[in-house]
Amino acid sequence: MKFIKQFFYGLSIVGMLILSVMCKDEKKKEVTQKIKKVSLEKNEFGTTPDGGKVDRYTLKNSSGMTVDIITYGGIITSIKVPNKEGVLEDVVLGYDNLDQYLESSPYFGAIIGRYGNRIAKGKFSLDGTNYSLAINNGENHLHGGIKGFDKVVWKASEETGENFAALKLVYVSKDMEEGYPGSLNTTVTYTLKEDNSLDMAYEATTDKKTIVNLTNHSYFNLSGDFSKTVLDQVLSLNADKYLPVDNTLIPTGEIADVENTPFDFRKPTSIGSRIEADDDQLKKGGGYDHCWILNGQDKGHRLVGTAYDPASGRVLEVFTTEPGVQFYSGNFLDGTLPAKLGGTYKKRSGFCLETQHYPDSPNQFDFPSVILNPGETYSSKTTFKFSAK
Ligand code: GLA
Repeated sequence: MKFIKQFFYGLSIVGMLILSVMCKDEKKKEVTQKIKKVSLEKNEFGTTPDGGKVDRYTLKNSSGMTVDIITYGGIITSIKVPNKEGVLEDVVLGYDNLDQYLESSPYFGAIIGRYGNRIAKGKFSLDGTNYSLAINNGENHLHGGIKGFDKVVWKASEETGENFAALKLVYVSKDMEEGYPGSLNTTVTYTLKEDNSLDMAYEATTDKKTIVNLTNHSYFNLSGDFSKTVLDQVLSLNADKYLPVDNTLIPTGEIADVENTPFDFRKPTSIGSRIEADDDQLKKGGGYDHCWILNGQDKGHRLVGTAYDPASGRVLEVFTTEPGVQFYSGNFLDGTLPAKLGGTYKKRSGFCLETQHYPDSPNQFDFPSVILNPGETYSSKTTFKFSAK
């Protein structure tokens, strides 16, 4: 009897031991899987004419969303997200290789700096000192100048956690680069998360009083079919006002109500429904190419706009800390640039939602300030969040 008792006792101990080892193994597996939810991979993408090595990073989450970013210009070259049937397709315009980006790009997917948008005649002054920036858009300065942040190679580092993968890009712009005062130390961090959102966090510091206005210039076509225009895609913008412009797309200084104009996107409206309306501002922009004054400026990082493609069901929500957004309807695309999946990018085959401070702010004293002083940190955050319905 005693022997039988001891036998079963021994057996149960061995059983418990086996069970605990198995559980540990399961836990281990779970942890490794957790760590692997969002991954990051690095590949060579090419070399710039002056010998700069360019890498491409692919961020991927467990639902299959991928974001490709290259270190040249911090350019987002691809964002693949599911449609309502779960089919992954690329929803941003761009190119297949580095040479095409080097040759000519209308800022496809790039980081824009030091100043996103236009500064009238490239001139501004700070504390009585006049500055003249590079002129690259008619008589004006646009998107940081001739060699802006979209055309430099950024230094990359990676960070991954249980539910995110991040790519941190750093660039130090020299004092007087493109005419801007101060050495500007800039960091842009792209973070892909499990909820199909991509965060862009911008930070900058300077050693001299200067101006900064950073953004990203992705062109979206939520259909995933670049041969289509975006005119049927539906936009809403949480903005009661916008900035009318002159013939050179510089704000006149007037802050206009969107009410009863083709600029009212407070209710979801297709991009194409009013784009050809007989409207002086639409004529000046050749379509939409204006800055909307976003509501809720005291609310920090908030939902400011939503784009929806009824055919694929894809939805893009844009959150930002910025006071404005330049909604550009791809009016200058003219069918000459080669598209990623073959063919060319025709007029209005992509739209941009460039979160930012207002154009020409250094010369318009009623606009929110874009001045950065030594000792301060410029900081801005925008999120592109995708879903389907
Ligand atoms: C911005 C400008 C447009 C155009 C594009 C690039 O969105 O506002 O006018 O310059 O960039 O083509």
